[in-house]
Amino acid sequence: MFIKNQLENLLQQSFISLGYPLEYATISASNRPLDADYQCNAAFALSKRLKQNPSEIAQNIIKNLPTQTDFTFTFSAPAFINIQLTKQKIEEVVSVVQASKQCGVEPIQEKQTVLLDYGGANIAKELHIGHLRSANIGEALKRVYQLFGYKTISDTHLGDWGLQMGLTIAQLEDDGVLDYYFKSGKTAQAKPTITLEMLNTAYPKASKRKEAEPKFRKKAEDYTLQLQQKKEPVYTVYKDMKTISIKKIKEGYNQLNCYFDLWYGESDAEPYIGKVLTAFATKGLSYLSHGALVVDVAKEGENIPTDKTNEHGEILYKNPMPPLILKKHNGADLYATSELATILMRKEEFAPNKMIYIVDKRQSQHFKQCFRAAEKVGFITADQIYHVEYGTMNGKDGKPFKTRSGETVKLEDMISLIQEKAAEKLKQNGIENNPELALKIGVAAMKFGDLQNSISKDYIFDFDKFCAFEGKTGPYLQYNAARIQSLLKKANEVGGIFSLQYAEERDIIVQALKLLESYETALQDNSLAPICNAVYNLASSFATYYNNVKILTETNTFKRKSSLTLCEFTYKLIAQALHVLAIDIPEKM
Ligand code: ARG
Repeated sequence: MFIKNQLENLLQQSFISLGYPLEYATISASNRPLDADYQCNAAFALSKRLKQNPSEIAQNIIKNLPTQTDFTFTFSAPAFINIQLTKQKIEEVVSVVQASKQCGVEPIQEKQTVLLDYGGANIAKELHIGHLRSANIGEALKRVYQLFGYKTISDTHLGDWGLQMGLTIAQLEDDGVLDYYFKSGKTAQAKPTITLEMLNTAYPKASKRKEAEPKFRKKAEDYTLQLQQKKEPVYTVYKDMKTISIKKIKEGYNQLNCYFDLWYGESDAEPYIGKVLTAFATKGLSYLSHGALVVDVAKEGENIPTDKTNEHGEILYKNPMPPLILKKHNGADLYATSELATILMRKEEFAPNKMIYIVDKRQSQHFKQCFRAAEKVGFITADQIYHVEYGTMNGKDGKPFKTRSGETVKLEDMISLIQEKAAEKLKQNGIENNPELALKIGVAAMKFGDLQNSISKDYIFDFDKFCAFEGKTGPYLQYNAARIQSLLKKANEVGGIFSLQYAEERDIIVQALKLLESYETALQDNSLAPICNAVYNLASSFATYYNNVKILTETNTFKRKSSLTLCEFTYKLIAQALHVLAIDIPEKM
């Protein structure tokens, strides 16, 4: 739906005949919804540039517009141009949305593939609250791209290759769980079932021990290396661990409505590591430094020495950008090595036009290093790859969300908590014993509470606020969608021709257009808050209409059918937006 484009086109024609610079021919959302659906404020900026009276400029622009029947342009002092859609245009919008499968969103011209890397779960570690944002944002961005007809490939990119693996295996061995694998022949033990509980306790324990016990750390590092060389028995233990973990991780993501095309892990890129090393070596980009193989990635203005030193007497740098480490001194691969191998694998396997990584902003330096190195070696160009970096989800105290005893909150526990909260609210509405419905509402509360924030900022996760059935929340949107759905069911009658009758209807259509525009914004800057705002505004406009206007009780058939069409139109748009945000619509609540 190209209303904005159409308007800017009209303005441009006027600008051309006046000889005004075209870059000013833009429109913006209206600050005064009663007088205008959109507005053009170009006259102010033009008056500075052309040293002419702004009011005259605005009036000239209006006078020189081509004749058309879609919009009315009116001058508003001191130099605004108010734009309103005509009745005919408003009605046309409804019929275009109704006739289109994608509500009028125009697909891109050429086929393009986008690969989205999100989720980022780690084998042997349970999904926790830190995984929430990546899952929510990644899934929604994927759906935005799909809306515009992009082919999308979503990959969880499991963490399954680093020190965390070696640590877990070393701990399980110390716990005596792995005798079957490590002492085969010496003990007559039956193959143990490695359980999730074992993995869940082993990793945190090991993680603490690695700081205090150098011998243990060394063992974990050895196992990591052995794993990377596919040595037995470490490799088999690892594969068994992986099967158990993935099953559980999938369940968690499915509860959040996240679905991945690929369940690749860092390990799947391992066959490409050789090629990566060769590529850097051939181009003379890698060199040995303190026994490690490294690549310089700093740009001008980075690594500027200061006159300060750290506690070891080493010089501190301004804008530090350390070299990327390809191989550790002991020959082990690192996170960055597998990242580069993954980039190459993705390029060779799928040749995507874009790769988008939805990962915590605390990994910003890692991605900068890897993307720069990948660009330097010629795997990819800078405009094809980017990191959508998100901020931290904090508790009410403004600190990263933790349990009372200071531990990371498991995703599972978090979902149960929010499900309970939703069940309480439902009870107030007279609905009891419906855990499935409570789950749908709880997940919606959590997702919308997250997605409505600007991605890069930290935000406060407030259970009560997010779960409210009133205000800008997921449940409020679900409630409104369910209400329209049940109204349409009750009507048991198909709509007819939409004819604009009430002021409240105009507002619904203007909000609908803004929702459609928000998808373009989302696509341009990988943002989701604009969609959340717009769908909320649409739902509230509809709520006002619903309260003020007779719909089902209208006895004039033509008018009733027209209203029902508007209900269908609104439902279709809210449902599309909630689909994009990966939020379910319950039948009733
Ligand atoms: N597993 C990683 C972590 O827990 C996140 C992976 C993100 N994706 C990537 N391609 N590095 O930190």
